[in-house]
Amino acid sequence: MRVMVIHGPNLNLLGTREPEWYGRRSLDEINAMIRAEAAALGLEVRVEQSNSEGAIIDLIHEASGWAQAIVINPAGYTHTSVAIYDALKAVELPAVEVHLSNVGAREEEFRHRSVTAPACVGVIAGFRAHSYLLALRAVKDLEQQGKAAE
Ligand code: DQA
Repeated sequence: MRVMVIHGPNLNLLGTREPEWYGRRSLDEINAMIRAEAAALGLEVRVEQSNSEGAIIDLIHEASGWAQAIVINPAGYTHTSVAIYDALKAVELPAVEVHLSNVGAREEEFRHRSVTAPACVGVIAGFRAHSYLLALRAVKDLEQQGKAAE
């Protein structure tokens, strides 16, 4: 099973960006964890990061020709992007939304609403880098239930 993993804006700054919320691991370290977990689960992953909404939408479109599922942290676009919501709906691949922080526990009201989550099978938030690993397990579970794309 192939999985497209997409990191949204500002996640290239992980390691130094607000470590109290996002932890001290760099994106490269997190990507190494993702690749190791995927290998252990027998999943093939393509891992991408972009700071631009259009590029993220292009990656979602590319996933539809290649992957059977998507793991996505839309980051700030989570709370604003109808276009990413539309792209996830359009490709009809099961998607798992990921957040490093527990967005529901954050002070800013705007973080409590996800525009993109209704286009996903589920959301995993609050376990820092491990949120991505839990998302891969969720995707594996979807495959085992026969709910991933063919
Ligand atoms: C985030 C949470 C978002 O609210 C924020 O804009 C991010 C990261 C997370 O992973 O916790 O950039 O998606």
